[in-house]
Amino acid sequence: MLDFVKAKEHDEARQGEAFAGNALADSQNKKLFYIESYGCAMNFADSEVVASILHENGFGATTDFTQADLIFINTCSIREKAEQTVRRRLTEFRKAKKRNPGMLVGVLGCMAERLKAQFLEEEKLVDLVVGPDAYRTLPGLIEEAETGQKAVNVLLSRDETYADISPIRLNSNGVTAFVSIMRGCNNMCSFCVVPFTRGRERSRDAHSIINECKALFDEGYREVTLLGQNVDSYYWVDEQKDERITFAMLMEQVALISPLLRVRFSTSHPKDITDEVLHTIAKYENICNYIHLPVQSGSSRILQLMNRTYSREWYITKVNRIKELIPDCGLSTDMIAGFCTETEEDHQQSLSLLEYCKYDLAYMYFYSERPGTLAARRFEDDVPLDVKKRRLQEMIDLHRIHSLQSMQRDVGKTFKILVEGSSKKNEDELFGRTDQNKVVVFAKGNIKPGQYVYTKINSCTAGTLIGEVIPAADKRPIIN
Ligand code: SAM
Ligand code: SF4
Ligand code: F3S
Repeated sequence: MLDFVKAKEHDEARQGEAFAGNALADSQNKKLFYIESYGCAMNFADSEVVASILHENGFGATTDFTQADLIFINTCSIREKAEQTVRRRLTEFRKAKKRNPGMLVGVLGCMAERLKAQFLEEEKLVDLVVGPDAYRTLPGLIEEAETGQKAVNVLLSRDETYADISPIRLNSNGVTAFVSIMRGCNNMCSFCVVPFTRGRERSRDAHSIINECKALFDEGYREVTLLGQNVDSYYWVDEQKDERITFAMLMEQVALISPLLRVRFSTSHPKDITDEVLHTIAKYENICNYIHLPVQSGSSRILQLMNRTYSREWYITKVNRIKELIPDCGLSTDMIAGFCTETEEDHQQSLSLLEYCKYDLAYMYFYSERPGTLAARRFEDDVPLDVKKRRLQEMIDLHRIHSLQSMQRDVGKTFKILVEGSSKKNEDELFGRTDQNKVVVFAKGNIKPGQYVYTKINSCTAGTLIGEVIPAADKRPIIN
């Protein structure tokens, strides 16, 4: 599961996965909660904060929603399809509630924030609606809902970062973990609902981030992914100590915890990623050579309408700079097909940008108008659905060629990988990831998750490298 989340951490609209806390063993005689999350990695990280708040307040966890006293669904609004998925899931919970009328159903996250109390009108069996900045008030809201009242808190905050809360890792593999370093977004991309559902950008206290990463390392975790909608604009100021911490400085401090702790991050914005960040990635072996750099469109005209504040040329210059400073850097992106007014020529520019960048991975979507966004207010959603879908398919087909070529280029090379767990297809095999975030599958032998091993790649599929473990002494030629 975490594998799914990790591989598709920007891919909210492809089925959100159910996950529930199995980390809390001491559930006897307690009221039990069940939590299921949809959307981006930040939402999954938030569910771990929610689990911690509930645990502190005497609730136990269950992985079976039919046994729960409280069902929470942590929701995503990024595209219409993401919201439809949540509505379908709520009908399942409704059936469970009919069988057990004492059960409470709570909607958390971005859809709660977007629809607010309207949710209670639309979904009569929902008892609580709680936005992403209001999770500390959950215990009080639950008490309120237990008296039969509907409980709502969707207040957004300018300073809530949940810095002092130690998340309870849900469905963890014990090797990799997400760490939120900031919340919200100030960018106002015209297509995007996130600034409305998550509020203003704020950075979390750097010391609390480093302490959380140290604690994870001490517990045996070997990889942290630092999370934010725009990590490059992380900036934390400690007035008392006159300390100013940029994202590059934060990443460096996390990397210095131990050379055995891998550091990843997501998401970078092309307008904000700096040379300081690139030099820091290049300097530390344990900061992974992998950057997710969403472009959204290859047409400067469309980028302007999207309010992305960079042009095609600016983006290409950034990609060139990445390749110059970190020659073996893995690169991935997000792209939208069929944004308002997009012509065939604009679409061809997106295809040619894909051709230029030859991404290792790309998450691609057709444009889905979101109520209240700048685009919904200013522009007509005028590209017909069949055209959007055809353009999206052309982008996917082209990217498939590039991703297969990217995998094939690795055959014959040797990579240091961090072992994450058992392969889903074969229990005699394990899988791990290269620095560049590619999955490698290999025979288990005596190897355990959390170890680093060198693997020589013998073959590949479109999504997986197939390798064999080699002794460290035979590890040339080496890629990290
Ligand atoms: N903050 C990141 C960024 O700037 O790229 C990620 C934002 S969003 C959580 C993930 C991706 O969803 C975006 O990069 C974009 O490609 C896609 N997306 C956002 N709004 C969309 C919409 N209205 N329709 C289709 N795709 C959308
Ligand atoms: Fe949305 Fe743009 Fe912020 Fe990303 S940077 S979350 S796409 S507004
Ligand atoms: Fe979805 Fe909210 Fe994340 S809209 S993508 S869960 S920030």
